[in-house]
Amino acid sequence: MPEQQPAADWQPTAFENPPPNIARVYDYLLNGKDNYASDREIGRRIEQTLPEVHLGVREQRAVLRRVVRHLVGEAGLRQLVDIGSGLPTADNVHQIAHAIAPATRVVYVDNDPVVLAHARALLADNRETVVVAGDLREPAELLADQGLRDHIDFDQPVGLLLCGILHYVLDEEEPARIVRELVDALPSGSHVFVHHLLAAGDADAAAAEAVLRQGVGRARFRTMDQVAAFLDGLALVDPGVVTVSEWRPDADTPPLSASPVLRLAAAGVARKP
Ligand SMILES: C[S@@+](CC[C@H](N)C(=O)[O-])C[C@H]1O[C@@H](n2cnc3c(N)ncnc32)[C@H](O)[C@@H]1O
Repeated sequence: MPEQQPAADWQPTAFENPPPNIARVYDYLLNGKDNYASDREIGRRIEQTLPEVHLGVREQRAVLRRVVRHLVGEAGLRQLVDIGSGLPTADNVHQIAHAIAPATRVVYVDNDPVVLAHARALLADNRETVVVAGDLREPAELLADQGLRDHIDFDQPVGLLLCGILHYVLDEEEPARIVRELVDALPSGSHVFVHHLLAAGDADAAAAEAVLRQGVGRARFRTMDQVAAFLDGLALVDPGVVTVSEWRPDADTPPLSASPVLRLAAAGVARKP
């Protein structure tokens, strides 16, 4: 049978080439395969604006690994809720946690259907890990989710992971109130991790923020003080809110001086007294 050619006026449908989205642009920047042409176009614009962005996203994953190791290995937490978990990649949160304590309960939350489908496929036979559809901007709904409540014991400390997500919550959506509502629901001894892109006050940061905002519809980089304020009322874990390279670096963590891109992200962990 001859191969059918599309009609001359054929256009890809939204399903075949959906608009760019946060999870898939990030996947592209991590050299993943789960992205479409529209995501790659935004990814390439970010690469042009910020040529060392790949180091930045690699170090985002690296600090997430170090934090999970700390929360499970040192703080002794056995429950993690990862909001804005993203597309599965190497060294996912549940894998890091289970390498230390196999019974650690992990809940992945995301509002992207593609992320949810991939995560569910990956985790089909993992009883300690569940995937929940939820929006960080609707904390009350999220906290009421039955899947979350069935898996997490709210009388035991929880590690709340907000890695690379709060900079997609706009000021008018009240990110500080959202964090407070989530933290209020957690018992003493719980920990919160925030990774956040920084408004470093220079042209690079402003340009990267503008490309993201244009490409995926939203982005709000904040100052180090604004990021630290998300953890107000909690006890900061050493070394506090710092650039990603400075948060408990491993021997192979690139120092802050290794690249200007490393100035553009902060990380901090705090404990609920
Ligand atoms: C840049 S990725 C970060 C993935 C992972 N946490 C990491 O740091 O490697 C941001 C993720 O947050 C999700 N996300 C963005 N806004 C969200 C919201 N309001 N509620 C839930 N998930 C959201 C996106 O779908 C995406 O998967």
